[in-house]
Amino acid sequence: MRSGYEIRATKPDEYRATAGAVYPSLLTSPPSDERWEKYGYRWNGTATYSAWDRERCVGGASYSFLDTVVPGGAMLATGAVARVGVLPTHRRQGLARGLMNALIDDAAERGVTLLSLRASEAPIYTNFGFGLAGEDAAVTIDPGRARPLILPVEPNVFRMLAGEEILPAVQSVYGRWLGRHPGQITRPQNFWNRYYESAIEQKDGSFVVAHLDERGDIDGVVQYALRWAEENPRAGGAGTIGDIIASSKATELALWQFLLDIDLVTAWTADGRPLDDLVKDVMADRRAYQVTAIQDEQWLRIIDVGSALAARTYNQTKASVTLAVSDDRLDANNGVWRISSDGAERLANQAVGDLAVDIGGLSALYLGRPSWAAQGAVGKVRYTAEETLDSADALFSTITSPYCGSFF
Ligand SMILES: CC(C)(COP(=O)(O)OP(=O)(O)OC[C@H]1O[C@@H](n2cnc3c(N)ncnc32)[C@H](O)[C@@H]1OP(=O)(O)O)[C@@H](O)C(=O)NCCC(=O)NCCS
Repeated sequence: MRSGYEIRATKPDEYRATAGAVYPSLLTSPPSDERWEKYGYRWNGTATYSAWDRERCVGGASYSFLDTVVPGGAMLATGAVARVGVLPTHRRQGLARGLMNALIDDAAERGVTLLSLRASEAPIYTNFGFGLAGEDAAVTIDPGRARPLILPVEPNVFRMLAGEEILPAVQSVYGRWLGRHPGQITRPQNFWNRYYESAIEQKDGSFVVAHLDERGDIDGVVQYALRWAEENPRAGGAGTIGDIIASSKATELALWQFLLDIDLVTAWTADGRPLDDLVKDVMADRRAYQVTAIQDEQWLRIIDVGSALAARTYNQTKASVTLAVSDDRLDANNGVWRISSDGAERLANQAVGDLAVDIGGLSALYLGRPSWAAQGAVGKVRYTAEETLDSADALFSTITSPYCGSFF
């Protein structure tokens, strides 16, 4: 980093100056007075660092506090990293590295176990010890071909929610849905406000519909937005699917049936579906569901390897492995752990393991996919005997795909 540059913790009265550098780096104008008045509060309660060229802010990075569900259901304290940007005038001079190092050290000091983010470009964050821990799919669905769905439960009752009903209903169901996939997160209030702003303010064709159980209580919700086909409205409308949150798989499928039955909608799209989306298997014609892209979703950086390995569960198997972990930034993470069905144990006097992995590699594998065998094949895990990769897979792999389902 050039002399004259400084990276430091951002004080609340510097949030706006930091936004003035980060927004333009993310292809957006600096916040107007009106925008800052309405949304500036979202910076409160974050851990934020900014980069300064003398008195001018030229970059920033920030994380907010939430929890991530890990295999077995435990929740780990997580920093959700966002607002990372360096002005185009100051790039490739080490400022992002300085900012990310500051976030990593800050998280370690506060006892935050994971950092998590969504990347604007896939190659950036492997530079800072992150690994790709979960993917999602962009999909299109032709409702005409998908119908009729084969559903386990009928009949179903639905209710369109009014603006003020939305957040209480969605938040209560979300608590019951959390845990379906490793990698899901708790959502801070400002995430909820942002995700549901259009539906609450009844704009942009945005709606939330609830599914009611036999007692009339809400046990699932779907969020969607509708618009007429731009080129030819006579062709009908198009729908975009947001959250589908349900306390059971049957309710989730009932919500899909509701969506796919909406008149006039001839095409649905969703940008972030889990790879093992349930609905594919109940469509009359499964080719109604087309994956248009598999995308990197969740990037993780383990901050405390010992706590992270101890928090998740491992599958029942007689096999065990020793893992040697290396971390250039956080020395406490350099060590060897023995993993068995009983859990993770640090081996204090051991320097070598059956498998050797750097912090980015372990962060990628932590939620249960991809496989250790595949990562070994591409050189991201070093091994002496191939069977140890299979043993690691027997211990780590999860049946449900890692999936977060919340963009930040
Ligand atoms: C991405 C961004 C923050 C990087 O900032 P920067 O100050 O130029 O990055 P640094 O100079 O600290 O680079 C650190 C390392 O990352 C690498 N790197 C930086 N940007 C990269 C990119 N877009 N793709 C791949 N590698 C990248 C650098 O080559 C460097 O590696 P090295 O240390 O081995 O040489 C900056 O380009 C930016 O603001 N981009 C637009 C906004 C954005 O995409 N933000 C991320 C939102 S998730």
